[in-house]
Amino acid sequence: MRLTHLGHRALLGSFIIYQVMPLVKSLCNSTLKIQCFMISQKITGCKFHASVEVDEKDVNLDATFSVHAGIAHTRWATHGVPAPKNSHPQSSGAGDEFLVVHNGIITNYEVLKETLIRHGFTFESDTDTEVIPKLAKFVFDKARDGEGDMTFSQVVMEVMRQLEGAYALIFKSPHYPNELIACKRGSTLILGVNEVSGQNSGKSFNNAKSLTANGNPREFFFSSDLCAIVEHTKNYLAIEDNEIIHIKDGSVSILKFDREKEKPASVQRALSVLEMEVEQIKKGSYDHFMQKEIHEQPHSLTTTMRGRLKNSGVILGGLKEHLKTIRRSRRVIFIGCGTSYNAALAARPLVEELTGIPVTMEVASDLLDRQGPIYREDTAVFVSQSGETADTLVALEYAVANGALCVGVTNTVGSTLSRRTHCGIHINAGCEIGVASTKAYTSQIVVMAMMALAIGSDQLSTQARRESIITGLSSLPSHASEVLKLDSEMKELASSLVDSESLLVFGRGFNYATALEGALKVKEVALMHSEGMLAGEMKHGPLALVDENLPIIVIATRDACFSKQKSVIQQLLSRKGRLIVMCSEGDISAVGPSGSCRTIQVPEVADCLQPVINIIPLQLLAYDLTVLRGFDVDQPRNLAKSVTTQ
Ligand code: AGP
Repeated sequence: MRLTHLGHRALLGSFIIYQVMPLVKSLCNSTLKIQCFMISQKITGCKFHASVEVDEKDVNLDATFSVHAGIAHTRWATHGVPAPKNSHPQSSGAGDEFLVVHNGIITNYEVLKETLIRHGFTFESDTDTEVIPKLAKFVFDKARDGEGDMTFSQVVMEVMRQLEGAYALIFKSPHYPNELIACKRGSTLILGVNEVSGQNSGKSFNNAKSLTANGNPREFFFSSDLCAIVEHTKNYLAIEDNEIIHIKDGSVSILKFDREKEKPASVQRALSVLEMEVEQIKKGSYDHFMQKEIHEQPHSLTTTMRGRLKNSGVILGGLKEHLKTIRRSRRVIFIGCGTSYNAALAARPLVEELTGIPVTMEVASDLLDRQGPIYREDTAVFVSQSGETADTLVALEYAVANGALCVGVTNTVGSTLSRRTHCGIHINAGCEIGVASTKAYTSQIVVMAMMALAIGSDQLSTQARRESIITGLSSLPSHASEVLKLDSEMKELASSLVDSESLLVFGRGFNYATALEGALKVKEVALMHSEGMLAGEMKHGPLALVDENLPIIVIATRDACFSKQKSVIQQLLSRKGRLIVMCSEGDISAVGPSGSCRTIQVPEVADCLQPVINIIPLQLLAYDLTVLRGFDVDQPRNLAKSVTTQ
C-alpha cells in the first residue's frame, strides 16, 4: 500500500503520538478497508507514525493504489468497548458512502440515532460517532431526491447543524472522490501544509490555492496534534471552531459555519510555523518516551528559562502588560487537572509569599461541578501541558464569562488554551509524548516560580529572597543532572517494591505537591495503588494503615517543615513503618537513627525549587516499577495524553 508521493494525505488523530488506543482502523479509499490492530508493525508508505498491526487477510500490503486521500484514527473509547465494530472510520452503511473519523463526544447522538432508525438506518456500532456518517448519507440522499446534488461541504454543514457536543471530524465519500472535509467544534484539529519539493514560499494562503501553486504539488495533513505533522511539514494552521476545511483537487478552501446563516462565509487564514524538531518525537537511544523525557529535564529546564532570567530579574513577555492588573487582583486561582494541578500546587506557596495575594487551588472539573464563584477582580491561572484538556478549557470559558483575567501556562504553542486566555506563558519544555507528564511538570513549576518573581518584583522587602531564587533557578538544570544519577539506585528501590500492593508518599509545605505527583506517577504507569498525603494529616487517619509491610516514602528535604517531618518519621518508625526517606544530601543521620530506614539523598536547592528536584527520583521509580511489572510505559491502560472530553 503506497500513499506516499500521491497528492495529499490526511491523518487524524492521536494515533501518531501514542495517546491511544487499542484499536486502529484505517480506510484508504472507498473500496479498500483495512482493519488495523495495535501497535507492532509499520504500514510503510502510509507514513502513519504509529505502527499498526494489519489484519493481513484483508489486504495485500504490496499492492499500489492510486489514492489521494486517506483517513485513519486511533480511538479513545467513550461509547462502546474497544472492538473492530467500534473503531473508526464509522460508516454510513453498505457501500461506505460516507466515512467519518471523530475525536470528541456527540451529546445528542441518542436522539439522532432514533430519528435515523425511523428513516430505515441500521446501526452496527456502540459509538456516538456512527450517527455522523449516517446523517451525512441521509442529508445527501434527501438532496438527491429533491432539489439536486449538494457539494460535499454543504452536506457537512447540514450535518454540523444537527450535531451537539465536541468534535473534530474528517469526512470522506466515494460521491466526492479525492476530496476530504474536516471541521471542528471543541476538539483540536490541525491542518499541515507541505510543498512536496522546494520550500513553501508563501506563508499565507487563501481559498482555492491550487495544488501546483509555486509549481510544487502540495500535501495536506489533518491531525489532532502538532507532534503528528512535524515529520512532514512545519507549516500549519490551527483550525478554529466552526471552520470547514475542504480539500479538493489539491486545493484547500475554508468556510466558516454559522448555525444562523444559510450560507457560510469564506475565510482567509495565515499559516503558522511549527517550532519543533523531528528528534523531539523520536525515542533516540531510550527504550521509552517517559524515560527519555525524564532524562531530558536538565535540557527542558534550560529551555524553559532561556532568555527569561535577566539582570537579577525575570522577563516574561506574555505577562508584562498584565502585571499591574494581576497585582491588583483580589485573589489568584490556579486551575488545572492531574499533574498540571500538582505543578500549580507546588508553586502556590511561593506565589503567596512573593505577591501577598491569596491563592486558591481548583481542580477544573470540581470548579465546574460546584460552579464555584469567580469574580472580575480575580486572576485565574490555567495550567495545562497540552492546552487542550476539556475540563480546563470549559473552566476557562466559565472564568472568561465571569470577567476574570485569564492567564495560560501551557507547553503547546497554538493550543486552544493559549489562544483563549488573555495572556500567558509557554513553558517551552519541548514535545512531551509519554502519557505520564514528567518534564512538563518540572517546567510548569519553574514557569510559575518565575511568574511569582515577576508579579512580586515591585516589592522591596523581598528583593534578597527573589535574588536568591533567581540564582537557584540558574543552577537548577545542573542539579537536575545530578539527581538523575540516582537512576540505578531507583531501579534497585523499584525491585524491592515491585510486589507491593500499595505505596504511600507523605509530603508537606512545598513538597505536598511532590507527594501527590509522585503517587500519581506510580499509579498511572506502574498501575500500583499509591496515595500522596499531607504529612500533617497523618495522625488524622492514614496512621492506621502503617505496619511493617506498607512502603511509605517520606519527603524530608531541608526547608521550614524539616523538623515537623523529622517528627513524622519518628512516629512512623515507632509504629514499625517501612520507610523510605527522601532527604537532602548528607542528612541521613539527621532524619533518623542509622539503619532505621532506606534513604534517597537529593541535592539541596532553594526550598521553593526543591519540588523540581525531589520529583525526579520518584519519576524514575515510577518508570522502573512499570518496566519491572511489565506494563506499558508510554501508553498506560485506559489513559490518553490529552483528555479532550469531559
Ligand atoms: C499526568 O501524568 C497525566 N497524564 C494527567 O494527569 C495530565 O496531567 C492531565 O490530564 C492534565 O493534562 P494537561 O496538562 O494536558 O491539561
